[in-house]
Amino acid sequence: MEQKAIKPNLSVVGKTLKEVIQIKNFQVWIKENHILANIQLSIPKNEITCIIGPSGSGKSTLIRSINRINDGISGLNIQGEIIFNGLSVNDKDVDVAQLRTQIGMVFQKPCVFPKSIKENVLFGIQHLKNLSKLEKLQIAEEHLKTVSLWKEVSHRLNDKAISLSLGQQQRLCIARTLAVKPEVILLDEPTSSLDPVSTRAIEEMMVKLKENYTIIFVTHNIQQAKRIADNLIFICDGKVIEQGPASRIFSCSTNPQTKAYLRDEYCDC
Ligand SMILES: Nc1ncnc2c1ncn2[C@@H]1O[C@H](COP(=O)(O)OP(=O)(O)OP(=O)(O)O)[C@@H](O)[C@H]1O
Ligand SMILES: [Mg+2]
Repeated sequence: MEQKAIKPNLSVVGKTLKEVIQIKNFQVWIKENHILANIQLSIPKNEITCIIGPSGSGKSTLIRSINRINDGISGLNIQGEIIFNGLSVNDKDVDVAQLRTQIGMVFQKPCVFPKSIKENVLFGIQHLKNLSKLEKLQIAEEHLKTVSLWKEVSHRLNDKAISLSLGQQQRLCIARTLAVKPEVILLDEPTSSLDPVSTRAIEEMMVKLKENYTIIFVTHNIQQAKRIADNLIFICDGKVIEQGPASRIFSCSTNPQTKAYLRDEYCDC
């Protein structure tokens, strides 16, 4: 069967496409466990959407469903729809590899490959066989500059990526994701193993990147969400408790569960 690459839906391209992703009645079970219940969300374009919520509430399951990283889990069952640029990501004829180039992902722990710094940046575009050495170097330079790593590594591009500090490795992972030119970047607690300086560097980078990308950022750190989020989604026990503009939720949420979580990082739902 021919596989579908998800491209911008022409029927909506003429209008300003405000929502890149819509999630409708989305549910996930793993074996008998109901992990996500009736999720309804929309993700605005060129903004940072932070997802917060207690451990085990389903944040990772949700974002990993968006680019179908969860596909391999045995006993996984889903219902409902995740719509990206007008098409359902779970359509059986969607090209998943192509989907993941459009919706990139950065994980909690930096996951560099046992290759050089330069090869790591170029990893996702190695199929572009016609690139000259110079073009590859230019691509590596461009993306290492975007993540503010170029000055630190320009003299050691052929060193193993593993020789970098954790914070540098995480910025390298972001550069590798950007080199594929995704439209959406999913980040699952990308700063949780980093020091405050590296954390701030990534936060500042996110604020710059949103000009060109739509960012979905899972964090346990409420202060971090306050610093970077345009929109906030609060998830507890597999349900969306509240979603909306971060400034409104932080300053005047009237939802008692949200208020308790923002105050004490505790939710009894
Ligand atoms: N592969 C799996 N098999 C069985 N249960 C799973 C699997 N993956 C996740 N779960 C369960 O789904 C629930 C949600 O997990 P998830 O990792 O999405 O939570 P989270 O909000 O990301 O938590 P944390 O903040 O600790 O990362 C948890 O109860 C978890 O144990
Ligand atoms: Mg998680």
